Amino acid sequence: MKAKGLALLLAFLHLQTTPITAHLRSELFSNFNGSVDDHGICTCSVVLPDTSFPAQKVENLEITVSVLTEKFEKELTKVKEYTKMMQLFEQRLLNLSIKIRVMEETSISYNKLDFELLKLEVSEMQKLVIELKSSFVGSNVIIDQLELEIRNITLLVQELESLDKNNILAIRREIVALKNRLKECEEFRGQNNTDFFIPPGSCGHGGVANISKPFIVQLNWRGAAYKYGAWGRDYTPMEPTKTLYWVAPLSTGDRYLEYYRLYDTMDDLQLYKYAREFRIQYGDGSGMVIYNNFMYFNYYSTRDIAKLDLNTNTVTLRKNLPNAVYNNRFSYAGVNWQDMDFAVDETGLWVIYSTEASTGNIVISKINDTSLEVLNTWQTMQYKPSVTNAFIVCGVLYAIRPMNTRKEEIFYYYDTNTGREGRMSIIMDKMLEKIQSVNYHPLDHKLYVYNDAYLLTYDLSFQQELQ
Ligand SMILES: *[C@@H]1O[C@H](CO)[C@@H](O)[C@H](O)[C@H]1NC(C)=O
Ligand SMILES: *[C@@H]1O[C@H](CO)[C@@H](O)[C@H](O)[C@H]1NC(C)=O
Ligand SMILES: *[C@@H]1O[C@H](CO)[C@@H](O)[C@H](O)[C@H]1NC(C)=O
Ligand SMILES: *[C@@H]1O[C@H](CO)[C@@H](O)[C@H](O)[C@H]1NC(C)=O
Ligand SMILES: *[C@@H]1O[C@H](CO)[C@@H](O)[C@H](O)[C@H]1NC(C)=O
Ligand SMILES: *[C@@H]1O[C@H](CO)[C@@H](O)[C@H](O)[C@H]1NC(C)=O
Repeated sequence: MKAKGLALLLAFLHLQTTPITAHLRSELFSNFNGSVDDHGICTCSVVLPDTSFPAQKVENLEITVSVLTEKFEKELTKVKEYTKMMQLFEQRLLNLSIKIRVMEETSISYNKLDFELLKLEVSEMQKLVIELKSSFVGSNVIIDQLELEIRNITLLVQELESLDKNNILAIRREIVALKNRLKECEEFRGQNNTDFFIPPGSCGHGGVANISKPFIVQLNWRGAAYKYGAWGRDYTPMEPTKTLYWVAPLSTGDRYLEYYRLYDTMDDLQLYKYAREFRIQYGDGSGMVIYNNFMYFNYYSTRDIAKLDLNTNTVTLRKNLPNAVYNNRFSYAGVNWQDMDFAVDETGLWVIYSTEASTGNIVISKINDTSLEVLNTWQTMQYKPSVTNAFIVCGVLYAIRPMNTRKEEIFYYYDTNTGREGRMSIIMDKMLEKIQSVNYHPLDHKLYVYNDAYLLTYDLSFQQELQ
């Protein structure tokens, strides 16, 4: 800051004698000078004092000067003080500006306290500036400027804070609230977020998270010798709560699907009563499924899909599954003749198989259950004969492999929604050594498993959907 200089003009009085030539009597004047020249002319000079000179004025002026000087000195020290203060303020303002710029430029989160401190600092400065102004009577450009800048910064801080309130602070508060609610939910349920309610038939989840222990329903109706087979529950989308259970032990040996039974309730099934028994000729392996009151299976010794009407027990349609291998070319590990494994999920009918072109890797096709036409096909990287079995949930294929005689592992998935595949690990207990078939039901979220002549069910739990 440049001090406003106080320029004092000191007037020095200069009394000048003015020579006047006159023939006057010298005694009248003290400053008379007279002389007579060679021609007898008397010349005299007199110096006349300026009778108008105000001695009083000079005196007054002299007093004024001293007062002014004193005042000036006083003001000068004041200005020096203020200058110092101003420099301090300027430094603080600069610091504040830097702080605010950093806050603006970095999107890292700054908390409410930061703003409170900033606001405190700014208001303190405002107070000081007002004080300064009142002591420094009169307008001063620099102080005005300072005041304006502080007002600007105040506005900026408010703006920043309001911006932040709308974003980070608000979101943070929301997140904290959500976290608390989540925690409450978890505490209420007493477990992790893997077990939560999924409406029947809904795909509003993030995939299979875990599997329960097996529930042993019963030994199949033909007895312990019938180690191969399948069982499940019909899924009819128009009538999803309908209960129709089917059990199909293969004829002795591991190949022919020939007899099957239907039960209207689980009680009937468990008590072996009110069973309706049927015979067909023939299916290969235990990959069949019942969907919408029709059975779908691999017609023996062909690459045909057969569609059987349960009401009449007749094959109403047969259609070749393009390029599918058959006749036990690529079946499952330890389970023969399951070249075609049918699956049902929330979205409809699927078939899991292999082709020569896929070199035995799993191929997944979505099937039009009316026409048996292939709607879409996905090639996976998983070799089918190294897998125990597979099932599909919400368009995601899950494959199982044996770990030992008592445990299996859901170890692989292929998501037809995204084309992504990968490893996973969910351990699945089993009763006996071999699992012959696995069928999923979209309504009850159960797996119906045929395990060396025993019928088992498992409950699936799902991950929460990622937002
Ligand atoms: C008077 O006047 C004469 C001529 O101008 C000068 O020489 C002389 O010094 C003067 N004397 C005094 C006392 O002023
Ligand atoms: C401004 O910031 C610097 C460096 O952080 C610090 O040394 C200085 O004391 C601050 N000045 C004021 C007036 O706050
Ligand atoms: C205050 O802010 C206004 C608008 O942002 C700007 O035009 C002005 O130059 C600022 N004044 C000071 C002293 O920073
Ligand atoms: C919940 O899941 C997390 C990670 O998935 C795990 O670390 C934690 O142990 C689980 N807690 C309970 C109680 O199961
Ligand atoms: C998965 O389910 C099994 C069987 O109910 C249970 O023992 C295990 O703790 C569960 N795992 C997780 C991660 O919840
Ligand atoms: C399935 O096939 C039937 C009969 O050909 C046809 O009417 C229907 O539109 C097909 N559905 C799909 C999803 O392609």
